[in-house]
Amino acid sequence: MSSQEGIALVNRDDDGVDTAFRSDVLAGLLQPQKAISARWLYDDAGSQLFEDITQIPEYYPTRAETEILQSRGAEFAELIGPGRAVVEFGSGSSVKTPLLLSAIDPSAYVPLDISGDFLRAAAADLAAKFPGLPVHPVEADFMRQVALPDAVSGPPKLGFFPGSTIGNMVPRTAVDLLRNMRETLGEGARLLIGMDLIKDRGVLIDAYDDAAGVTAEFNLNLLRRINRELDSNIPTQAFAHEARWNDDFARIEMHLVAQSDLSFTVSGNRFAMTRGETIHTENSHKFNRRTANMLLLASGWDPQQRWLDSEERFSLILAEAKPPKSAP
Ligand code: AVJ
Repeated sequence: MSSQEGIALVNRDDDGVDTAFRSDVLAGLLQPQKAISARWLYDDAGSQLFEDITQIPEYYPTRAETEILQSRGAEFAELIGPGRAVVEFGSGSSVKTPLLLSAIDPSAYVPLDISGDFLRAAAADLAAKFPGLPVHPVEADFMRQVALPDAVSGPPKLGFFPGSTIGNMVPRTAVDLLRNMRETLGEGARLLIGMDLIKDRGVLIDAYDDAAGVTAEFNLNLLRRINRELDSNIPTQAFAHEARWNDDFARIEMHLVAQSDLSFTVSGNRFAMTRGETIHTENSHKFNRRTANMLLLASGWDPQQRWLDSEERFSLILAEAKPPKSAP
């Protein structure tokens, strides 16, 4: 199969319900610790709320990573060189991409996203900013291996995965993804990946529980989305947003905490929760130099260079696809 075209990325039943969303939510609510995958936070409303989060004073990752991209262009150019096809995983509506593309003189840009709308907008935007740069958008689930367009089969690839999105995955899922990226990108590939750093707990909690309540809205939108799309009656006003630091796993967790004993139905299935019980909605893992290196090495990537912002809050790492070899 040489192209992803024509494959429906979202399956809907006769009522127009996203069947994966429904089965994920139902299975998640049946677990002892209720949990719903963070991927469902990003419907249109959720994607807009996340854009708002990137602007709030407490949420430093976007600004910190942008600072690195703005200030290290000359080093990217030297280490990466010209002529690579840049493959961005989950391009969304990124404003970071032009900073990279203008630094390294690439041969093509391949945005990958599961949302066709975001993808077309991002591709059009980039094509306008970089006349003469071939742009080949691919609508695909980047968690799987992706067949890249034939037009970019020649040049070596640079994968670009900013935003510390890798931190949303538990290590075994992160390793699966990073290994798939290595297969997708092929021989001689490089990867430029953002990873947020372990830091003072108060700073982390504030970044995920901002004073204006935007992150709370982002989290609660998941319940509103379930009510909108899955024929449900969750009492959203009876839930509160909570950001927790899990020190064993070095991650911020978002939870929705039931403020009273309550019950509701989702697609005809009844669920009860006691006061204080939570639905776990997101993990955001944080890294240090060693844990970042370990994750990359475990996935077949050799770390080559690491950059921090001026306040040392966020890291951007350049890694090289590691050729298979036997001894140390
Ligand atoms: C988009 C996954 C990078 O984990 O920091 C922001 C999502 N969640 N505030 C992150 C998010 C709550 C964000 N990522």
